[in-house]
Amino acid sequence: MKALKRQFMRPVMLGAALILGSGQALAADDSQWESGEQIYAKVCGHCHEAGVGPTIKGRSLPPSYITAIVRHGFRAMPAFRASFIDDQALQSVAEYISTSPAPQNEE
Ligand code: HEC
Repeated sequence: MKALKRQFMRPVMLGAALILGSGQALAADDSQWESGEQIYAKVCGHCHEAGVGPTIKGRSLPPSYITAIVRHGFRAMPAFRASFIDDQALQSVAEYISTSPAPQNEE
């Protein structure tokens, strides 16, 4: 029984290692995000278009300021880690916010 178990486990462990390895490669290769606009709509907008956070579009905030706040958080604003928004995606959402006009429904 013991010998049978050992024989069976070896290929299973090998398979698991291969699956984990390829999964990591995939995650590093392509972002789960399509565009800065999509990230803003799906993540930031929940607070920043709902009056929970201040309006951040239409203020020409520097992208470097936006990326720093997103990575480190700022008082009531939560930090977002690279495993959630990778550097490239963060840069694109920061540029999108920086260059977008203020939301229409403001004022
Ligand atoms: C859970 C709600 C929430 C989410 C989601 C959120 N924020 Fe915020 N954010 C806040 C709040 C609240 C503040 C104000 C913090 C304070 O002053 O205490 C803030 C502040 C900021 C500021 C500073 C604004 C200023 O007036 O200087 C920036 C820039 C910012 N957020 C960017 C983002 C970006 C980019 C995203 C999306 C990746 C995002 N936030 C997602 C709640 C949120």
